[in-house]
Amino acid sequence: MKISLIGYGKMGKEIEKIAISRNHTIVNKFDIENINELTVENLKKSDIAIEFTTPETAFENYIKCFEANIPVVSGTTGWLNKYSEIKEIVESQNQTFLYSSNFSIGVNIFFKINSFLSKIMNNFPDYQVEIEETHHTEKKDAPSGTAITLAEEIIKNINKKTSWINELTDENDKISINSLRKVNIPGIHTIKYESPVDIIEITHSSKNRTGLATGAVLAGEYIFGKKGLFTMDDFIKL
Ligand SMILES: NC(=O)c1ccc[n+]([C@@H]2O[C@H](COP(=O)([O-])OP(=O)(O)OC[C@H]3O[C@@H](n4cnc5c(N)ncnc54)[C@H](O)[C@@H]3O)[C@@H](O)[C@H]2O)c1
Repeated sequence: MKISLIGYGKMGKEIEKIAISRNHTIVNKFDIENINELTVENLKKSDIAIEFTTPETAFENYIKCFEANIPVVSGTTGWLNKYSEIKEIVESQNQTFLYSSNFSIGVNIFFKINSFLSKIMNNFPDYQVEIEETHHTEKKDAPSGTAITLAEEIIKNINKKTSWINELTDENDKISINSLRKVNIPGIHTIKYESPVDIIEITHSSKNRTGLATGAVLAGEYIFGKKGLFTMDDFIKL
């Protein structure tokens, strides 16, 4: 595939390496220094775009890719308040879009374990649930998109939980997400259920960005030639 990279930061650079190793060609690398080159005409030179930028810029970039009629894989987090708008555009304009808060295969397995565990824990109200996420200090959004995905699934499955909050709380209807920032951490997520007598804890820890970048390239290969709105679930089929 001919790929446009939108965002040539930590993830963009890692995706470039994986894409080349899988015999794809990077035809465009857009970042803020050459943002004037991010045009419909240049995008049309590629088969797909892989977008990892910032919460503030992602939406506008998707729209530009749709104007060029190219499929988009995006991992940018923190823009999901506009997801329904994107869904509407993808469906009405017959576009192709796959977003995931986390492209790691391991994290997607972790999402399934979280879903299974939270369904069980709904029957045991003595346990209080809490999420902790740790990332590198340059991360712009908090909580992480992955922590939000985990929290939303728990809210779906545990009746007494109705929302999440990005601080420690004793409020029974809320899930607290504790966000920690430390140097050089690609991403650690822990879900802890604590009762007066014990603790059940599950953790996913990324060793590096390779798994995330590989998942994004594989997702691009999956959506190439397809139309519609996709998730990692469609692709991994766990
Ligand atoms: N879904 C996942 O698996 C996953 C994994 C890691 C990071 N992320 C998310 O992806 C995003 C990028 O992460 P990163 O670690 O590569 O960050 P980064 O800061 O290293 O890179 C982002 C790059 O985007 C560039 N940029 C900013 N505005 C732009 C624009 N309008 N057009 C093109 N480029 C622009 C920046 O200059 C920067 O180089 C973040 O939102 C992060 O949370 C998601």
